[in-house]
Amino acid sequence: MRRVIIAGNWKMNKTISESIELVNGLKRELFGVESIDIVLIPPYTALSGISDMLTDSNIELGAQDLHWEEKGAFTGEVSPVMLKDVGVKYVVIGHSERRTYFGETNETVNKKVKAALREGLLPIMCIGEHLEEREAGKAFDVIEDHLRGGLKGIAGEDALKIVIAYEPVWAIGTGKTATPEQAEEAHKYIRGLLAKIYDKTVAEGLRIQYGGSVKPENIKELINEPDIDGALVGGASLKVEQFVPIVKGSLKKGA
Ligand code: PGA
Repeated sequence: MRRVIIAGNWKMNKTISESIELVNGLKRELFGVESIDIVLIPPYTALSGISDMLTDSNIELGAQDLHWEEKGAFTGEVSPVMLKDVGVKYVVIGHSERRTYFGETNETVNKKVKAALREGLLPIMCIGEHLEEREAGKAFDVIEDHLRGGLKGIAGEDALKIVIAYEPVWAIGTGKTATPEQAEEAHKYIRGLLAKIYDKTVAEGLRIQYGGSVKPENIKELINEPDIDGALVGGASLKVEQFVPIVKGSLKKGA
């Protein structure tokens, strides 16, 4: 049985004081929820403070990106060692915003996934097609390319530590969610590919999250799909009154 994982990617939002307020609210409302994994992914500046706030809580910490080297002359970058040091458990890699605005490629994604695993961090590797690609009937080619590219050279036992986030780019921040059927179709396809790349154990054990305009209103129908193991939530993770019902709406499957 795969454990449900709901992660809130705050992107470039929240000052320290705003972060503290949000985390206090989430801790209060989500206290005692143990049957699923809950992950907060704040900006780098808030990691240290939030890490302290989450000690001994049921909520875990994630980061939005990392560099693949351990240390050195890479101005502006943050290494896996530093993330581990601050108490991070999960790290988002290859988000479509990184691919679109900051030149991330399958090659850099692959290097980052390997670096995260090396340091004992759990990668949340994002894949997914643009609208034009879907309309041109290429969605599944893009998914395959991202998946194979990101997982290149990674052994099955390590692959099991990765969470794949399927995020159709046309559904991110647009209010347009993929229908549960569209999402399930993609997730099922990804699981089939994992069985081809690895084996049945990896395909059935690896968790696949859906991301793109997840909100309290649509989480239940998404999470009820057999191959959807959680959600990577952007906008709706910035407010207690939206993120809490998303987590609670996923509990049935996690129980
Ligand atoms: P959204 O973002 O929930 O605001 O659509 C999802 C994401 O980018 O992970």
